[in-house]
Amino acid sequence: MTAAKPIAPPKRLMFGPGPSMVDPRAYQAMAQPIVGIRDPYFLEIMGEIQAGLREVFGTANEKTFMIPGAGSAAMEAAVANFVLPDSKFALFASGHFADRMSITAKRQRANVVRLEKPWGEVFTAEEAANFIGREKPDAVGFVQAETSTGAYQSGRAITAAAKQSGALVIADCVTSLGAMPVELDSVGIDVAYSCSQKGLSCPAGLSPLSVSPRAWEWLERRTEDPHTWYLDLRLMDKYFAAPHAYHHTPSPPLYYAMHEALAAIEEEGLRNRWDRHFRGGKRLVAGLTRLGFEPFVKDPEDRIWHLTTAIPPAQVNEAVFREKLLTRYNIEVGGGLGQVAGKVLRIGTMGSLASEENIDFLLESMAACM
Ligand SMILES: Cc1ncc(COP(=O)(O)O)c(C=O)c1O
Repeated sequence: MTAAKPIAPPKRLMFGPGPSMVDPRAYQAMAQPIVGIRDPYFLEIMGEIQAGLREVFGTANEKTFMIPGAGSAAMEAAVANFVLPDSKFALFASGHFADRMSITAKRQRANVVRLEKPWGEVFTAEEAANFIGREKPDAVGFVQAETSTGAYQSGRAITAAAKQSGALVIADCVTSLGAMPVELDSVGIDVAYSCSQKGLSCPAGLSPLSVSPRAWEWLERRTEDPHTWYLDLRLMDKYFAAPHAYHHTPSPPLYYAMHEALAAIEEEGLRNRWDRHFRGGKRLVAGLTRLGFEPFVKDPEDRIWHLTTAIPPAQVNEAVFREKLLTRYNIEVGGGLGQVAGKVLRIGTMGSLASEENIDFLLESMAACM
């Protein structure tokens, strides 16, 4: 059966919330030979990836890992290791992925307390200080770039209050990494996780995670093992650190892809890449407004640069519109999730698609499908 049908996927322009376009260098790298998990060549590549990830994360954290799995595996690793059963986990909740973090923490039997805000809004320093001061949590969680709403929250407002009360801060950087500022050390984030298939322009399946020295010391002191074996970071660390004891079998093609994607970011310059995404977002929002769309995130300062959420004009049925873009122009854009399903479009302008030419092509194609 499979021999009769060679793989011939269509070439889409991935203007959705992720997966994004894969960097051509990453594609090529994935066809290179497989080596063993302790092959000196593989270990060299692993070390270079960790160094590249520290750059994009904006951290000196020695404990910077590649979790074998999608972003949700890295979320689960962060929560299962750093949120103890019966401890208090304070969550800043304003979107679908914050809700997923809540569910993950509840499955670890944590006592989850939530500060809620309407989707599309971010939290102020005063709100964060009041919430954390009142709840006195053991750990705090927030989503830096909430892909369901298009809102960006650096985390500075939250980390200051958390540090004062001694709580560890866990940040979801799944959509921010590689595309806009994450800056773990200067923001004061203890545990951050991300994915490979958005700002890094790789396929899904290898998710970066970084832990501050303070949080790692806390983990070393943890007495009860986390309720997960595969995602137990103390066990996983034995593979990433010398002498690289076997824990799981990594996928060399995904490592090669990430290595090349990070090299491409280094060549462009991280700040230049951020600027390109910033300019792309502005151009897209201006064009969408001309077409009659309304930005879902009201304050331009709170918008993710490379993931725009927009409410279509009344005459546009978003599902039909997305179907037309796909079939006529090979363009994928995302629909809404959760409470905004059917109400917004989610448009990613990540990696190579964050160029004037590509954004103008998208806007022209959208105009023709309305
Ligand atoms: C902010 C955020 N967190 C977590 C996830 C989950 O990542 P994955 O789909 O790779 O499991 C996503 C996916 O879109 C996301 O956007």
